[in-house]
Amino acid sequence: MRVTMIGSGYVGLVSGACFADFGHEVICVDVNQQKVDDLKQGRIPIYEPGLDALVASNAAAGRISFTTDLASAVADADAVFIAVGTPSRRGDGHADLSYVRAAAKEIAQAIGRYTVVVTKSTVPVGTGDVVEHIIRETRPDAEFSVVSNPEFLREGAAIEDFKRPDRVVIGANDERAKTVMAELYRPLSLNAAPILFTDRRTAELTKYAANAFLATKITFINEIADLCEEVGADVQLVARGIGMDKRIGSKFLNAGPGYGGSCFPKDTLALIRSAQDYGVSLRVVESVVAVNDARKTAMARKVVRACGGSVQGKTVAVLGLTFKPNTDDMRDAPAINIIDALQRAGAKIRAHDPVGMDQAKAVLHNVTYTDSAYDCAAGADVLVLVTEWDAYRALDLKRLHQVMKGAVIVDLRNVYREEEVARAGFEYIRVGAMPKLGKANEPKANEPAA
Ligand code: NAI
Repeated sequence: MRVTMIGSGYVGLVSGACFADFGHEVICVDVNQQKVDDLKQGRIPIYEPGLDALVASNAAAGRISFTTDLASAVADADAVFIAVGTPSRRGDGHADLSYVRAAAKEIAQAIGRYTVVVTKSTVPVGTGDVVEHIIRETRPDAEFSVVSNPEFLREGAAIEDFKRPDRVVIGANDERAKTVMAELYRPLSLNAAPILFTDRRTAELTKYAANAFLATKITFINEIADLCEEVGADVQLVARGIGMDKRIGSKFLNAGPGYGGSCFPKDTLALIRSAQDYGVSLRVVESVVAVNDARKTAMARKVVRACGGSVQGKTVAVLGLTFKPNTDDMRDAPAINIIDALQRAGAKIRAHDPVGMDQAKAVLHNVTYTDSAYDCAAGADVLVLVTEWDAYRALDLKRLHQVMKGAVIVDLRNVYREEEVARAGFEYIRVGAMPKLGKANEPKANEPAA
C-alpha cells in the first residue's frame, strides 16, 4: 500500500520506517527542510535506538523516501497519516491543533483519489470531526474517510513498541476505511497483535485515558514514596508487593522525580481541558497534574536538604537530563525544573547526559556541560542522578568519591545499592526510603507509642 506520513518526528519517522519495513511504500513529509535534507542523506535527526539502521535498509530497498512536497506525496496515497505535534496551547493547556488543522487543509488540496486520512497525533475527542470538516469544506468533491489511530509507542523502545504493540486501536466510522486500515496493519495482526476497532471518538479518548492512567500510576507511587520516607518503609518493596497483584501490575511503579516528557504533561492537561468543555471535571487527573507539578520543586528541596539546608555557592553535579533514558528528548524533562529551582537557590550546575546535551543547551542555561560522569562530578558538593541511563549504573563509585568535593549522592531513580554507595564513602539519599546507613533509621513522627 502507499502510505504518506505528514510529520517526520519521533512518531512519524518511526511509524513510517516500520510500515516500510512491513513492505508498504512510504513517503515521509516534513515542513522542516533541514530535517528532510538530513533524512535524504541518511542522517536521522533524532536519537532512537535502531532507527538509523531501519531507515537505511528501507531507503536502500526503495520503500521509504522523504520530501517537503506534501501535495505530490498525498496525491496517490492509500492512507495519509497526520503525525504532527499537538503541544499544549499557551495559556490554557488545551491541545494546540493548529498543526493538525494546517496539515488537514494541505491534505485536502492534494487528495487525488479515495484516501483514508488517519490522525495519529494525540488529539482531543472530536478532532476527527474537525479534520473531516476542513477537508470537506476545502474539497467538496474529495473521496475520503477520516480515521483515528492513536500511537502508543514509547520513545527509547519505539520500534519494538510499534512492531510488537500491546494493541493497535483504530477508530473508524465506515467499513471502507476499516478495510484499508486492516490491510495496512495486516503484518501486525499476523504478529498476533490485538487490533481493537472502535468508533472514532472512542479511539481518540482511549489514547488520553491511557496516558492519564499511566500518569496517575506514577504519581500514586510517588506519593506513597513520600510517606515511606516519613514512616521508615521502602517504596521499592511496597511497589513490588502491590505490583504482584495482577489487578495492579508491576509496571509504572518506580518512584522518582515525577513524570515529564513530550506526552504525559501535555496530554493530562489537554484531557482535563477537553473534559471541562463538556462540563465534566476529572478530579483524579486534576490532582495528578497538581501533585506532579509540585514534585519537581520538592526534588530540588530534597537536594538542598542533602546539602545541609543550602546550596548557595555549592556545586551540584547532575547526571541525566533527558526525560528518560534512550532518548534525546528534553521536552518537559524533570531535570529542567529541578535545575532551575537549584539555580534559583544559588547552586552552580555541572551536568552530563549521554545523548541529550545538545537539546539541553537550548533549554538550560548557565550550566557547565561535561564530557563524562566523572568530569561532571569533579569538584561537586553533591551528585544528583536524575535520569537512569544504563551508562550510570556501573559507575566507579570510589573514583567519583575521589573527584568530588562533597560526599553525597541523591539518587532520584533508585538505581544504586545503599551498601555499595556507603562503602565508597558516600551518604546516599534516594526516593521513598530513609537512609539505613549513616543516619538514624527511625520513623520521624507520629510513631505509635511502644
Ligand atoms: P515531533 O515534534 O517530534 O514531530 C512533529 C513533526 O511534524 C515535526 O518534525 C514538524 O516539523 C512536523 N510538521 C508540523 N507541521 C507539519 C505540516 N503541516 N506538514 C508536515 N510536517 C509538519 O512530534 P512527535 O513527538 O513525533 O509527536 C507527534 C504526535 O504524536 C503528537 O501528537 C504526540 O502527542 C503524539 N505521540 C508522541 C509520542 C512520543 O513518544 N513522542 C508517543 C505517542 C504519541
